[in-house]
Amino acid sequence: MKKTLWGKTKDGADVYLYTLTSGNLEVRLTDFGAHLVGVRAPDRAGNVADVVLGFDSLDSYLRGSNGYQGALVGRFGNRIAKGRFAIDGVTYQIPVNNGPNALHGGPVGFDRYLWKAREADGGVEFTHVSPDGDMGFPGALTARVRYTLAGNTLRLDYSATTDKPTILNLTNHSYFNLRGDEEGDILGHVAELAADRYTPVDAGQIPTGEIAPVAGTPLDFRTPHAIGARIGDNFEQLKLSRGYDHNFVVNGAAGTLRRAARVTEPEHGRTLTVETTQPGVQFYTGNFLDGTVTGRHGKKYQQRAGFCLETQRFPDAPNHANFPSTVLRPGETFQSATAFTFAAE
Ligand code: GLA
Repeated sequence: MKKTLWGKTKDGADVYLYTLTSGNLEVRLTDFGAHLVGVRAPDRAGNVADVVLGFDSLDSYLRGSNGYQGALVGRFGNRIAKGRFAIDGVTYQIPVNNGPNALHGGPVGFDRYLWKAREADGGVEFTHVSPDGDMGFPGALTARVRYTLAGNTLRLDYSATTDKPTILNLTNHSYFNLRGDEEGDILGHVAELAADRYTPVDAGQIPTGEIAPVAGTPLDFRTPHAIGARIGDNFEQLKLSRGYDHNFVVNGAAGTLRRAARVTEPEHGRTLTVETTQPGVQFYTGNFLDGTVTGRHGKKYQQRAGFCLETQRFPDAPNHANFPSTVLRPGETFQSATAFTFAAE
């Protein structure tokens, strides 16, 4: 691991860039927001490119409002309807930041903080302590994410503890483009999702509570399909979200590391396989990227410049008794793992 000083926060604290290398991969991380800054990977001809969208300068991360590029999202990833939920009969209010709803932990999420870093075997571990009442969430929460690189696999191990009952949904919000971050959109990428079911949403992208089969819909990726093949179909769920932006229920038992997704890019031959212990994965096709954010090499991140596979618990779970619980109680340790494997074929 290589550690280099990258800059300072506006409060004058040092921010570092961490570089991990293994096999053909180079992974860059920063302790600011525990972001995944980039992953350089070769294609089938051996040409190396960054396959995670991001920024060369710390300033872009400090400024924020980039669409959560590479961000470690918390305390609660994705949406909470009206920012409101209850635990043990007590109601809590998160400030809303996405229309009437709270998104990715509210206006000042975990991606806005400098995390504490320490070297771990094969990588880096980042720790963030969110105080009781932070963004309206109860309980002082200690969240950890350990990024490790072995062979071609970047693994994220998450854990968390609290001193009062709270809710929790941690994820990484990286956008991938297996053509390389300089090249075009992701519509020609071929995706396969190990999900028989998904959680449909309403016009505010809040789950209706239904757990619906993907069969017979453009959300059926149980066999490989080009991302762009059906994205414009006249299907209400796609229209409401301007493309794919849905929580897929990963087949198999949550708590065991199992395949959630595999994406291949036919032209350059790069592949990404995602495994997770989480119950769900948000497949998001960069629908809200609009070219206002400039990434590396001066490239403007346009709609569909990247796709996300945010492994997670279900959006708005605290308001749906039929969804797996997101409550964490004192004495318990939350744990999850997600592995991203990059290859070329
Ligand atoms: C998640 C959400 C999207 C969008 C992005 C950030 O993927 O589900 O609707 O908010 O984050 O732009």
